[in-house]
This record gives sequence, C-alpha cells and structure tokens, in this order.
Amino acid sequence: MSQTSGIPGAHALVAKGVTKRFKTGRSHIEVLKAVDFDALHGDVTMVMGPSGSGKSTLVATLSGLLKPDEGSVSAMGEDLWKLRPGQIDRFRLDHCGFIFQGFNLFGALSALQQVTIILKYKGFAPAEARARAEIALAEVGLSKRMHQRPSELSGGEKQRVAIARALAKEPHLLFADEPTSALDGENGQIVIQLLQRAAKSHGAAVICVTHDPRLEAYADRIIHIEDGRILDDRRTTPGPGAAKTPELIGA
Ligand SMILES: Nc1ncnc2c1ncn2[C@@H]1O[C@H](COP(=O)(O)OP(=O)(O)O)[C@@H](O)[C@H]1O
Ligand SMILES: [Mg+2]
Repeated sequence: MSQTSGIPGAHALVAKGVTKRFKTGRSHIEVLKAVDFDALHGDVTMVMGPSGSGKSTLVATLSGLLKPDEGSVSAMGEDLWKLRPGQIDRFRLDHCGFIFQGFNLFGALSALQQVTIILKYKGFAPAEARARAEIALAEVGLSKRMHQRPSELSGGEKQRVAIARALAKEPHLLFADEPTSALDGENGQIVIQLLQRAAKSHGAAVICVTHDPRLEAYADRIIHIEDGRILDDRRTTPGPGAAKTPELIGA
C-alpha cells in the first residue's frame, strides 16, 4: 500500500458522449444523455445529484460493468468498451476498486479472508496475499478485528473492510457508490477520509457518488448530474498536479 499507483494530475479516465437507455415496456428512457466525464489521479471527484439522476448508471458505464449504447470510455489508456468481455473483467480486477452502500461482503468469511481472497484471485501467492491483507486492514484501523465476520462488525467497520479489500490491490481507479449512506456521521467521515487518503497517498482516481452534502468538504472536484446530464463541474482545490503535498513529493 505504500507505492503511488498513478501520477497526480494525469488523466486516469476520459469518457465522451456516454449515452445509456433502458427499455421500459415499449419505450426507452434515456438515463445518460451524451455525458462527457473525466477523472484525474490524486483527485477525489464527487458526483452528486438527486435519486434517479443516473449516478449509479454512470459509474457502471465508467467501470466496465454496464455497456453504454453510445460513447466511449478510455480508462488507464484502454478503450474500455472495445475490449472483449474477458479483457474487461481482467481490467476491473487489475485496475478498479469498488465500494458500495451495502458493503457487499461475504457473510461466511472473516475480515482477513475477505481481503486475502481478492489478492489470491489477482495472483498473489497465499503468504504474500495474507501479508498484504493484514497491512490493508491495519491501514483502515482494523488490526484487532481481522478475524471477525461481517455479522460481528458494525456498519462502519464493515465499510472499512470493504475499503481495505478495494485498496489492497492498489487500484488506479476507485469507485464508491453512496459509500456513507448507511453510516452515521462519524463513521461516514472516517470512510471519506480513507477514500481521500487513497487519492492523496496512492494517487488513485477516486470517483465517489453521493447525495450527502457533508462529504463536499472532502472533494477536489464536485460534478452535479441531473436527469442524465452534467449541470456543473467545479474544482474546489488547486488540483493534484498543481499542489503536491510533501508526502507525495517524498513518495
Ligand atoms: N436496469 C434498469 N432498467 C431500467 N431502468 C433502470 C435500470 N437501472 C436504472 N434505471 C433507471 O435509470 C434511472 C437512473 O438510475 P440510477 O443510475 O440508479 O440513478 P441514481 O444512482 O442517480 O439514483 C432511474 O430512473 C432508474 O429507474
Ligand atoms: Mg444510485
């Protein structure tokens, strides 16, 4: 977890003209309307908008989970939707971390096993996978809770396991869809600070969907989406390329 996984300020992802329609009965509803989007390494990019505005659909098209009807997504230099399905799966495994509102943990596995299994799947030898998993769990403050299963963990702890699992493989792109909405204010703050650390210390491009206005303070950039269109795109910090922190210069 110590290496920087992207050059701060460089583009991790560029999407152009992304359009997505869903069939409902005989008609189609256009959920994304020619959306242009980009995200930089080292930035926390917050996507905000009302329920039903297309936030989750956007994240799914950007992360290789849902094919858009039109438009392109270039991520880590790959034209994502030109790849074969198996290559897209590999791309997600190699480059993407995911954090969801519902934690998406395996009920039967301990915190340590949740993280280790992903690293083994990615190709690490068992001992190396376990060592990396322990480091990732320590980084989210869960060293003492590693052997607990989800049913024995609080909501905040579960989300921290999910973050450790996402960060352990040092993703270039970290997607979070409403990661704090099942948490109280204090745990929500811990979670967003961990996402911020992923951007600042590891150079990940963090794309975080939320409608929680308390999180705005942690964003480098805030993008407002409504009815499948981007209404506003505002940078709130000087930018990862412009203002290097001592930590990043020393990395
Ligand atoms: N698989 C689907 N089939 C049909 N309609 C869908 C599907 N997924 C999402 N939608 C619709 O697309 C719109 C946007 O959904 P979503 O991206 O989940 O919004 P948000 O995450 O901003 O709440 C909603 O009106 C939703 O009902
Ligand atoms: Mg959603």
